[in-house]
Amino acid sequence: SSTTVGIVGGGPAGLMLSHLLHVAGVESVVVESRSRDQIEHTHRAGILERDSVRLLVDSGVSDRVLRDGHEHQGIDLRFNGVSHRIDFQALVGASTWLYPQTDVFADLAAARERDGGDVRYSVTDTAVVDVTSDRPAMLFTDSKSVRHEVRCAVLVGADGSHSTTRASVADRKEYFRQYPFAWFGILCEAPPSAPELIYCRSERGFALVSRRTDAIQRMYFQCSPDESADDWSEDRIWSELQARLAGEDDFALTEGRILARTVLPFRSYTCEPMRHGNLLLAGDAAHTVPPTGAKGLNLALADVRVLAEVVERAVLKHDWSALDTYTGRAVDRVWKAQHFSYWMTTMLHALPGASDFDVHRQLGELAAVVGSEHGKRYLAEAYTGWPRS
Ligand code: DHB
Repeated sequence: SSTTVGIVGGGPAGLMLSHLLHVAGVESVVVESRSRDQIEHTHRAGILERDSVRLLVDSGVSDRVLRDGHEHQGIDLRFNGVSHRIDFQALVGASTWLYPQTDVFADLAAARERDGGDVRYSVTDTAVVDVTSDRPAMLFTDSKSVRHEVRCAVLVGADGSHSTTRASVADRKEYFRQYPFAWFGILCEAPPSAPELIYCRSERGFALVSRRTDAIQRMYFQCSPDESADDWSEDRIWSELQARLAGEDDFALTEGRILARTVLPFRSYTCEPMRHGNLLLAGDAAHTVPPTGAKGLNLALADVRVLAEVVERAVLKHDWSALDTYTGRAVDRVWKAQHFSYWMTTMLHALPGASDFDVHRQLGELAAVVGSEHGKRYLAEAYTGWPRS
């Protein structure tokens, strides 16, 4: 069979691209190795930039984010036991929205179903071939064990940080950084402990207080990358979180039953170029950022907004040179987000082996940021999202 755009990966990047192409009148087929249910129940990020919210609403995916999401007009940076508010609205006139990635995915999957989109979940043995020809193809086996070959005009690799499609970008250069720590993430059954997110630096390491609903909360704390989540009792998890958040204001988290726990790896990765022949990469397949700063999902949505535009120009206006502009238009934001995620990470985490100098330098950096309108404004601008490219 054939289609215009073959998309490998049915997470937020792949589904949003398929939706945007549909709106423009371009046909696509999406293949995904996980089941819809599996993706919908994998806890991921929680914060949307202003333009990510606009994209979901204005492109007609859903306006549920405006009803069920929560607008956040700032965050707290907390260190030495004192909170410092970064007031996004006052500094840059923007907000972010707390709206979990599982809801973004559910909205996108429902919109593709509503609009008759062709999304094949639970496929296996996916491969891309002939990416430098004008008829590249996706090969895969469907959930009934039938082997398929779908010929396309354009292929997109939106298959996440463990991407197999990017191996076909023959001339790629890969940029990579590892971090000597990870996050221990929990979901708990409790009312919110704070109205906004708290990014906390303590001598015991980083902690982040986020939210999900009025009854369920999301929190993270820095741990060793080889930590095993099951080794921790609920009491030990709560006392570690409480100790990191403790301060002069006697702030305390409201505790509750722990519903889920995972250890999240940390790394920074960029692949350039993001295109080879008629194969283009989007989202985590092209770049992975550490989670501090909540850039991953937003970066993926920014990629596919540009990608939809260049693919439309190529296939509808027969302007194939449009594909040449993709990496250049997407990659500036990627490196800004790489820097921001790295900066937030290194500014707030306990770095193993840090000297007394390193620790005091880090506290000096935090004091410089929260003590300066300019410093706070840079953080607010980056966190709420750079303008569209
Ligand atoms: C969440 C995750 C992040 O990485 C972050 O910076 C903020 C919030 C979250 O899952 O809620």
